[in-house]
Amino acid sequence: MEYPFRCGLTRMPTDSSKIGRDILSIYLVTGAAGFIGRSIAAALLARGETVRGIDNFSTGRRSNLVGLESMEFIEGDLAEPAACARACAGVEFVFHEAALASVPRSVADPVATNVACVDATLNLLVAARAAGVRRVVYAGSSSAYGDTPTLPKHEGMLPGPISPYAVAKLAGEHYMGAFSRVYGLETVVLRYFNVFGPYQDPTSHYSGVLAIFCRRMLAGEQPTIYGDGEQSRDFTYIDNVVRGNLLAAAARAEKVSGRMMNLATGNRITLNQTFEILSGLTGYSGKPAYEPPRSGDIRDSLADISLARELLGYTPQVDFREGLRRTVEWYRSGGGN
Ligand code: UD1
Repeated sequence: MEYPFRCGLTRMPTDSSKIGRDILSIYLVTGAAGFIGRSIAAALLARGETVRGIDNFSTGRRSNLVGLESMEFIEGDLAEPAACARACAGVEFVFHEAALASVPRSVADPVATNVACVDATLNLLVAARAAGVRRVVYAGSSSAYGDTPTLPKHEGMLPGPISPYAVAKLAGEHYMGAFSRVYGLETVVLRYFNVFGPYQDPTSHYSGVLAIFCRRMLAGEQPTIYGDGEQSRDFTYIDNVVRGNLLAAAARAEKVSGRMMNLATGNRITLNQTFEILSGLTGYSGKPAYEPPRSGDIRDSLADISLARELLGYTPQVDFREGLRRTVEWYRSGGGN
């Protein structure tokens, strides 16, 4: 992946509050041992940026930090204000990826999801403001749209969260907007749609479906489809999400601050079709098992990505099939174990 632009590395302070600060930008990535956080951190490091990561290893993995040795790392929990303060000191840009992902996990334990997604996000914003952080880019979730039949989902639609996870991620979005309006902290919300790719943990039953399917099918084990398999998703390869984040950090504040936008591909595919493609890529010759739909699941998901195109100049670089091919190769070569 190429990152043709840099943001902030050598920029001089633009307002008096930043005079005297180190002119090298420090980028904070929360959830840096998680799948998306580690991918953003790796891209920043590859561009020569100064990066700090924080993770409490609730779902992040120590093995995901391999290759990120030049990143300053804090083991800490954003639910504790002191950890947030430490993480934000001297930082200019924050990519807030830390969360307890998974709809079914939130159905099983809504309070834990709330603490990790809502309390932690508010603590982070308070610390970011106190530390003079310029911009927070937030990992929102397509789950905020809920199960409305209208496709594609566009940002003007009313949210309709149907799981505790969706509520928690949406609350974080609103905190971002409020901190921009009330305190002038620059914030950008990116609503991710079913991100997949290397470094996604395939080992938990709360993992994303593609990670689970890749692992099982490569091992010759039967995957389970919840429902009839005709539910569809706008599965988005990780490189596209990383690129969207870097663009969101670099975009002019007048254009993006306080805004929310979808980050996806603008295409959808059903689980049954995905299973067929994966059968070809993995060599799995069996059929899937079908079980009843999961509670809190939505039926179809597809993003309108025109706002991210307009505000960020974002276009997806890696399509679904190519992303899936790269992902299968990564798991095949032992990734995720
Ligand atoms: C949801 C959110 C997404 C969020 C993610 C976090 C929506 C549209 N999306 O994704 O923004 O980032 O949670 O985890 O709400 N499935 C199987 N077999 C399996 C596992 C899953 O059939 O072994 C099915 C699920 O029932 C679901 C689909 O695959 O219908 C996708 O599930 P999953 O990967 O968990 O993501 P979402 O719940 O769609």
